[in-house]
Amino acid sequence: MSRFKFFVLSFLSAGCCLNAQSTVWLDQLDLSVATQGNGKPGVNTSVDGKPLMVAGEVFKRGFGTHAESSLLIKLNGKATKFSALVGLDDEMKGHDPAVEFEIYGDNKKLWSSGVMHLGDKAKPVSVSLKGIKQLELVVADGGNGPYYDHADWVNARFETAGVSTLETFNPIASEPYILTPKPAATPKINSATVYGVRPGSPFLFRIAATGDRPMTFAAKNLPEGLKIDPQTGIITGKIAQKETYEVELMAKNAKGSASKKLKIESADRIALTPTMGWNSWNCFGHEVSADKVKRAADALVKSGLVNHGWNYINIDDSWQYNRNGKDPSFNGQFRDKDGYILTNSKFPDMKNLGDYIHGNGLKMGIYSSPGPWTCGGCAGSYGYEKQDAESYAQWGVDYLKYDWCSYGGVIDGLPDHDPNKVPSLAFNGGSDLDKGVKPFKLMGNLLRQQPRDIVYNLCQYGMGDVWKWGDEADAQSWRTTNDITDTWASVKNIALAQDKAAPYAKPGNWNDPDMLVVGVVGWGNPHQSKLKPDEQYLHISLWSIFSAPLLIGCDLEKMDDFTLNLLTNDEVIAVNQDALGKQGVCLNTLGELKIYVKDLEDGGKAMAFANFGREKVKLAYKDFKKLGISGNQTVRDLWRQKDIAKINTGMGSLALDIPAHGVAYYKFISNQ
Ligand code: GLA
Repeated sequence: MSRFKFFVLSFLSAGCCLNAQSTVWLDQLDLSVATQGNGKPGVNTSVDGKPLMVAGEVFKRGFGTHAESSLLIKLNGKATKFSALVGLDDEMKGHDPAVEFEIYGDNKKLWSSGVMHLGDKAKPVSVSLKGIKQLELVVADGGNGPYYDHADWVNARFETAGVSTLETFNPIASEPYILTPKPAATPKINSATVYGVRPGSPFLFRIAATGDRPMTFAAKNLPEGLKIDPQTGIITGKIAQKETYEVELMAKNAKGSASKKLKIESADRIALTPTMGWNSWNCFGHEVSADKVKRAADALVKSGLVNHGWNYINIDDSWQYNRNGKDPSFNGQFRDKDGYILTNSKFPDMKNLGDYIHGNGLKMGIYSSPGPWTCGGCAGSYGYEKQDAESYAQWGVDYLKYDWCSYGGVIDGLPDHDPNKVPSLAFNGGSDLDKGVKPFKLMGNLLRQQPRDIVYNLCQYGMGDVWKWGDEADAQSWRTTNDITDTWASVKNIALAQDKAAPYAKPGNWNDPDMLVVGVVGWGNPHQSKLKPDEQYLHISLWSIFSAPLLIGCDLEKMDDFTLNLLTNDEVIAVNQDALGKQGVCLNTLGELKIYVKDLEDGGKAMAFANFGREKVKLAYKDFKKLGISGNQTVRDLWRQKDIAKINTGMGSLALDIPAHGVAYYKFISNQ
C-alpha cells in the first residue's frame, strides 16, 4: 500500500472531521410512524401524554408507547451504539401490566429485557450497532395480555458516525385503494338465502337490493300472515305455523328485474346467518344518545348499506343512568318503584326509538350486564332480569348484548360491585364454570319467554370456553375475545385466536371476535381507523370468512369511499352470510402467511390468504391438497368480483402476490 493510501484510510477509519461521533436522541426522530397497541406515540411523554415516570423516577427524554409496539429505524451502518433505560410507566398504578422490551438488528434479536412489571426499576440497555442496517425497537406483551402496558424507552439515544439524524419508517403501505366495483343499475337482491323466525313472533325483513331507484318489490309464496310493502320491500306480519317456506323475492326497476330464493324457517332457531349491523360503542362510547342512534339508522339507509344486508342498529352502554355520571344527563333514579329500568335523559322514549328503527325495516339492539353495573358504571340487570327482559320486549328490542362487567363481584360476594375495583373472575371449569354460566342462562330463559325474537349475544370475552355452552344459554352469538381496538396488534391477535372456537359455529350459533374497526372510530374520541388499508382488507376478509357477526363500529355519517367499498362488497358479505354456517379455519401456514378455508353451501370454498408478516408474499402456490381441493378450479377474486385464474390443482400453481399485512380473498369453484 502506498504511503498516501495508508494515510487516507487511517484518516477515515479514525473518523476524523468527516465522520465525527455524535449523539442522536430517539425522541428527535419521527416517532409517529411507530405501530402500537393503543394511543399515540409519546415524544418525551408517556403514551397518555404525561411526564415519563418509571418506578418513581421522572425522565425528561424518551418515547412513551403501548404494547404491542414496534418502531423501525434505518441505520445503514451509520450508528454504532444504542443505549436507553426501559420500564413500565407509573401512570398505570393499580393495574398489573407486564411487558418485554426487545431490540432487533436486521431481524435478529440483539437484546431482551425479560418480562418486566410495574414498579420494576428502569433497566439499562446498551447494544452495539456496528454494521446494522435496520433496527427495530419492540415492546411485546409480557404474557398476560396487552392491557395497561404503558411502556417507556427513556434517555434513549444513538451514537452515530457523524450523522445528525436517522430515519424511522413503517413498511406497511398507507395509500387507500378501492377494489369493489360499484353496484350495477339493474336490480340485484343481496339478502341472505335463509331467515329464521319463531312461530308467533313479529316478523320484520327488509329485502336488501342494489340498483337504481325507484324500485318495486314483490314476493311469491309468502306464508300466511306475512305481507310485503311493494315500495320499500319490507315484509312484516306473523307466522303461526312451525314450518319451512320457500319464498321468491323479486325486485324491479326501469333497467330490469331480479329474483332470489329465500327460505323462511319458522321454528326454534333464529339468527341463521351472522348478525349484520351497527353498534354505537366503537364510535360514540358513552356519548351515545337517541338522536345519534336515529341518525345512524338514517345513515344506514341513506349510504346504501341497507341494500347490502346491514340491518341492526344496536345501542351499547350508556342508555341507562350511571352511578357516578359527571354528565347531569346520567344522574337519575335507576329504576321505578316496580324495578323497571329508567332510561337516561338522552333516551327520552325507547319505544318511540324502536318504532323509528323498525319503520325503516331495521332492527334495534340494546346492551346490559348480568352484574349490578355495566362496564361503564351504568345500571345493570342484576336482581331485575325479569323486568329488564319485559322492558326490552315492550320497547321492541330485537338484540341484547349482555356484558359480564361487574358480575365477578357478585360471585365473589363483594359488597361493592365497582367495576373498576373488582377484577372480573376468570372462570375456567368446575364449579366456577357453573357460577359464570348461571346469569347468562337466567337471561336467556327470560328472553325466550318474551313475545318477540331477541337475538342474544354473550359478552364475557370468551371465559370458560363460552363457545361450548353458549347455545345452552339460548344465545345466538358470543364474544371470543377481549375488546378490539383499531390497531394491527389487536386485529392480528384476535384473528389468530379464532380457530379453537370454529367447530362450534353453526346456523344460530356464532363466534364473535368483536366489532369492526374501520372508518371513523374512537370510543367518543373520533379519528380515522389507525389500521392501514391492507390491514383493513385483511380485517374484513377474515371477519367474513370467520362467519363473525358483522357490526360496524364507525360513525355512519362520516364514511368515505374506501370504507364504503370495504362494507358493500356483496361477494365478501355472501361468504359471511352463507347458509351452511361453517366458520373458516386455517389449513395451511407458510411462514407468516395463513390460509383460511371456509366451505360454502354451493360446494365452493372461500379462501383468505392472509399475510401477517411485514414482507410481501410472492410465490407460486401448489399445495392445494392441504386446502381440501382437487381437480380443475376457477379462482374468483372476491374483492375485485372477477375470475382471475383457472387451475388444474394436480399440475398447476396459483400466483400469489400479497402485500405486507394484506390479504387475497378468493373463492374456488370446482369445474367438475
Ligand atoms: C365492554 C365491552 C365493550 C363495550 C363496553 C361498554 O368493554 O366488551 O364491547 O360494550 O364494555 O362499556
